[in-house]
Amino acid sequence: MAIRLGDTAPNFTAETTEGKLDLYDWMGDGWAVLFSHPKDYTPVCTTELGQVAHLKPRFDERNIKVIGLSVDTIEEHHGWARDIEETQGVALNFPLIADTDRAVSFQYDMIHPKADDTLTVRSVFVIDPAKKVRLTLTYPASTGRNFDEILRTIDSLQLTSNHQVATPVNWNHGDDVIIVPSISNEEAKTKFPGGWREEKSYLRYVPDPTS
Ligand code: BEZ
Repeated sequence: MAIRLGDTAPNFTAETTEGKLDLYDWMGDGWAVLFSHPKDYTPVCTTELGQVAHLKPRFDERNIKVIGLSVDTIEEHHGWARDIEETQGVALNFPLIADTDRAVSFQYDMIHPKADDTLTVRSVFVIDPAKKVRLTLTYPASTGRNFDEILRTIDSLQLTSNHQVATPVNWNHGDDVIIVPSISNEEAKTKFPGGWREEKSYLRYVPDPTS
């Protein structure tokens, strides 16, 4: 069964490179990014995991824990981690699930048989502190993901969770945001006392309230 936005992220216990963990306990009251890659010791995956390790401080700043997954074994993960450090210049600094029985892969619908009937595709799930799924992405094996875009999207999710705004195309933290259509101009006067720039009655911009 596919996991949709707003669904509760299924909990699981799994063996990882940092020991056995329970997803919910490991998340605590923060956010998580759960992502799968097809296979250890493959080129695109090597670059992706190195990049996630480089970006770890930027995930930490946002109170987000990152966890990877493939159907490879713990031993394979540890061996491959040495190659990631050697070729990508950074040590693996987040847990990798060894989903050898494919239990989590099936729970999260990460195996798409028409793409590959045994390996996981490149799935991404962003899970909020209430354990709700807030973003899903699916990329094929041949295409490495852009983890800067995932961070950008999380900035939007965290902002719009706390303020009645939405973020426009190509938005980045600090850019103007949009007052959501459900807020009337009367309400907007109270919520946005500095006023707004109105291009259409439904297109009202205000400065990013967090910058
Ligand atoms: C890769 O990471 O390079 C890769 C993995 C599985 C299939 C194709 C490419």
